[in-house]
Amino acid sequence: MAEDPLYHDARLARFYDLDVGWGADRDCCLNLARDVGSVLDLGCGTGALAVRIGAETRAEVTALDPAAAMLDIARAKPGAERVNWVQGDARSVDLGRCYDLILMTGHAFQVFLTAEDRARCLATIARHLAPSGRFIFDSRNPAVREWEEWRPDLSRRQLDAPELGRIEAWNDVHWVSVVRVFRTSWAV
Ligand SMILES: C[S@@+](CC[C@H](N)C(=O)[O-])C[C@H]1O[C@@H](n2cnc3c(N)ncnc32)[C@H](O)[C@@H]1O
Repeated sequence: MAEDPLYHDARLARFYDLDVGWGADRDCCLNLARDVGSVLDLGCGTGALAVRIGAETRAEVTALDPAAAMLDIARAKPGAERVNWVQGDARSVDLGRCYDLILMTGHAFQVFLTAEDRARCLATIARHLAPSGRFIFDSRNPAVREWEEWRPDLSRRQLDAPELGRIEAWNDVHWVSVVRVFRTSWAV
């Protein structure tokens, strides 16, 4: 699996939170975490959800991502000390314990482009899920054909970056196969 510079390059990762805001999907996961004792956030990215779960629930929270650049942003957030941050790969990690709730949000499950990678991730989830636990993940609905809007002319937008001022962002499809891979670009 190739490393995506969007997550691994600190110069790009710093734009993630500007472009991906809090939404109803995260509210739903936060509410599910209110009644459990432990949560594992796989592919936590910049940790927006894990930090809120840590701050607003009594759950013990572990959040995992392979990308150091994303975890650096997560660890710097207020309240980050309530979360156990792990740099690791959801296809192979073994934390040696189980969780009541496992989350994979922001379409993180869709980073796995092969059946083998998906099976390995599901095996990780099976290994870490408590007997009556829940695994919640999201996936794009292919019937909506979202990728047709991932064109610079349809997706160009402006974002306000604290240290840089106004920046432009757009999406572009770079490679099309059975699965489609898209790239987001940011220009200062
Ligand atoms: C679209 S982001 C979603 C981040 C976060 N869950 C959210 O809702 O904003 C996808 C995340 O999956 C992570 N990721 C990529 N490969 C992974 C792997 N093998 N195991 C776990 N996470 C992975 C990326 O580093 C990235 O942070």
